[in-house]
Amino acid sequence: MPSVTASAFTSALSQAANGVSVVTTSNNGQDAGLTVSSMCSVCADPALLLVCVNLDNEFCQMAIDSGSFAVNIIPSDCVDLAAVFAGLGEDPEQSRFDVGEWTRLSTGSPILSNALVALDCQLDSSLVKGSHRVFFGKVVDVRTTSGEPLLYTDRRFAVVQPVPL
Ligand SMILES: Cc1cc2nc3c(=O)[nH]c(=O)nc-3n(C[C@H](O)[C@H](O)[C@H](O)COP(=O)(O)O)c2cc1C
Repeated sequence: MPSVTASAFTSALSQAANGVSVVTTSNNGQDAGLTVSSMCSVCADPALLLVCVNLDNEFCQMAIDSGSFAVNIIPSDCVDLAAVFAGLGEDPEQSRFDVGEWTRLSTGSPILSNALVALDCQLDSSLVKGSHRVFFGKVVDVRTTSGEPLLYTDRRFAVVQPVPL
């Protein structure tokens, strides 16, 4: 069976709508994090989620070495933070963690204080597929606040617009 091209694939998938998260890890006193749209639930018992990260990103080796990471689901009023953690901030020299207020739970991975949901994870396992590593995280702690999630669709950030039935 022939495969579709990478550009046809990414163009088609750009029409999907995803929530926006910042995934973080900490190893030997150093923090790393990036904006992702690939986070999703795997199963509830045990509580497992997954996130796909480009192998070029320093997060990959640091999360493997530390054995843990955190997922911060970004609220709709934090688009600037999502842009900074995607490498789209105005000042490329700015430290990503200078934006927002950060704390830590049991694994030590950075937790955004006003994340809509923060999921602290132990690394369960990971596997490489093409350019990305898929990280499976066992959720060991969860914090929630109230608000609306930030979305990403059609290559831009968006907010929820409820549609009545
Ligand atoms: C909305 C959005 C979603 C993204 N999702 C992912 C993702 O799921 N996995 C990934 O590896 N990169 C994703 N990226 C790209 C990374 O955020 C970006 O490549 C990374 O922050 C660059 O980090 P670096 O400068 O440290 O290499 C996404 C970017 C945006 C704007």
